[in-house]
Amino acid sequence: MIVSLESKSPGDTYKMGELLGSMAGPGDIFCLNGDLGAGKTVLAKGVAAGLGVEGRVASPTFTLINEHRGRLPFYHMDVYRLGGPEDMADLGYEEYFYGPGVTLVEWAEIIAGVLPEERLDIIITRDGEDLRTIKVEPRGDRYLRLAEELKRHVCSGS
Ligand SMILES: Nc1ncnc2c1ncn2[C@@H]1O[C@H](COP(=O)(O)OP(=O)(O)OP(=O)(O)O)[C@@H](O)[C@H]1O
Ligand SMILES: [Mg+2]
Repeated sequence: MIVSLESKSPGDTYKMGELLGSMAGPGDIFCLNGDLGAGKTVLAKGVAAGLGVEGRVASPTFTLINEHRGRLPFYHMDVYRLGGPEDMADLGYEEYFYGPGVTLVEWAEIIAGVLPEERLDIIITRDGEDLRTIKVEPRGDRYLRLAEELKRHVCSGS
């Protein structure tokens, strides 16, 4: 099952992230893929807002990971500058993936080998200046329910 959503503006993408963040539970893992400038960080900022994170959420391109406090801990990773999965071990990724917080990884495909099997894959493609297709692909029952709920909310316009 794949849920395909259309975003017409950064605001749309942010709102989808916010919805996802509001529905997120302990241990959830969101894996984002898409080209430079696709909108991964915009979506991540929405997720943070939906989790009740206050203050600035900046792109962790150079820091690799930013930790925030919201309704649940929020771990925002960007592994673009990582050499590969080996470098992930140094980061202590397991504590994040298998901990009680919500983990969001930008450029997740780079570390495909260490990603948990159960996760929510999100692929953003650029269709035009402000147009994006956001494909949500659940892996595992927990994420299937999440994707269905997301689809229901977005399609009903709430
Ligand atoms: N529908 C849209 N959804 C998201 N962003 C959009 C949309 N339309 C235009 N944009 C613009 O595209 C850019 C997305 O930037 P963002 O930093 O989120 O990309 P990214 O995928 O995180 O890139 P990077 O790989 O460099 O981290 C922003 O400048 C944003 O304003
Ligand atoms: Mg980014």
